[in-house]
Formats: sequence, structure tokens, C-alpha cells
Amino acid sequence: MYDFISLVRKRRSIRRYMTDPVPAEMIKACIEAARFAPTACNTQAWRFIIVEGELKERLADKSLGGIVVPNRWASNAPVFVVIATDLDFITHRLGGSIKGIGYHMIDAGIAGEHFILQATELGLGTCWIGWFNKKAVSKVLELPANWEVTAMITVGFPGEAPPDKRRKSLDEISIFKR
Ligand SMILES: Cc1cc2nc3c(=O)[nH]c(=O)nc-3n(C[C@H](O)[C@H](O)[C@H](O)COP(=O)(O)O)c2cc1C
Repeated sequence: MYDFISLVRKRRSIRRYMTDPVPAEMIKACIEAARFAPTACNTQAWRFIIVEGELKERLADKSLGGIVVPNRWASNAPVFVVIATDLDFITHRLGGSIKGIGYHMIDAGIAGEHFILQATELGLGTCWIGWFNKKAVSKVLELPANWEVTAMITVGFPGEAPPDKRRKSLDEISIFKR
């Protein structure tokens, strides 16, 4: 068990994994943590697609190639979690155009981080993947046309302990006004 700030500090992006499979119960515990995330208008429009085995290989092959951020390392993760959003919800369809705010992206980010922090507490490693081919993901997973793929997360038992990364100081990022 970690206190909250220790858990937050323990979480790191893991890009090298052990080959051990991840028990389904652990993945379910992470989805359970994500399920309690707040969402705009309580829409809960996210869907978590857990991809393993041969389908995961195909997903990596079709969606993660690329010149700028190839993300080839990801195929050594035993599990991919794809977060998709059901865009039928009016808040999410209109939010962007009326208010200029992508509520579904915020919702996916919060839920994804709940998932990740629970995974960290369970001793799992994770990494957000934001650089992928959305259309290829939808096609490989045969997702409904109204679902937008919003993010991917790799999951597995960590095979590395990355060195500390510089964080900006509190003074650099906080502006108090009155
Ligand atoms: C929205 C988002 C997208 C990201 N996309 C990628 C990615 O495509 N490939 C990758 O290797 N890391 C990706 N990362 C991980 C970041 O590079 C990482 O969080 C950052 O360097 C800080 O390191 P840390 O997570 O170990 O603290 C992403 C992180 C976030 C939050």
C-alpha cells in the first residue's frame, strides 16, 4: 500500500515488460478504478477494450508504425488497453463545437489515469500511448463507427526501472491570483 503522493511518484512510463501474463483480476481491478472516474454530465461514455495475444500483435503491427514516434517497443507489453469513446452522447458531440472543449478527451484522460494508478499500486507497469493510427485501431478491433479511439495504454509487469525524469518546480507551474 502506498499513500497517495508516493503512489503518484512511483508511477512511471514503462516501456520494457516481463513476459508474464497479467491476471484478468488485476485488469478488472484497474477498470473498476476507472469506472469511478468523473465524466462530463456523468456520461461514462468511455469503453475499455483489453487486447492480448495474436490480436494485440496485429494491433501493434497495424497501428503503431510511424516515423515521428514509432512506438515499436509497445509490442513487448502483454496487454494493450484501448480507450474508446461512444460519441453518441450529446455532451461529447456538441461540446467541442459549442464550447470548444473536448470533454470526451478529458474524460478518457481522467479514467485512464485512474486505471494507471490502480495498476501501479498492484505492481504493474503501464505507459500511455498517444501516437497511433486511430482508423487502424478501429478496423483491427472492429469497433462501432460512432466510437472514437481516444488513447491506448500498455500494461504488464515491469521489466525496467526508469531513472527519474526532471519535473518542473512548483513555482514554474503554479500561478496564484486574487
Ligand atoms: C497523453 C499521453 C500520450 C503519450 N504518448 C506516448 C507515446 O505515444 N509513446 C511513448 O513512448 N510515450 C508516450 N507517453 C508517455 C510520456 O512520454 C511520459 O509520460 C513522459 O515522458 C513522462 O515520463 P513518466 O511517465 O515516466 O513520468 C504519453 C503520455 C501521455 C500522458
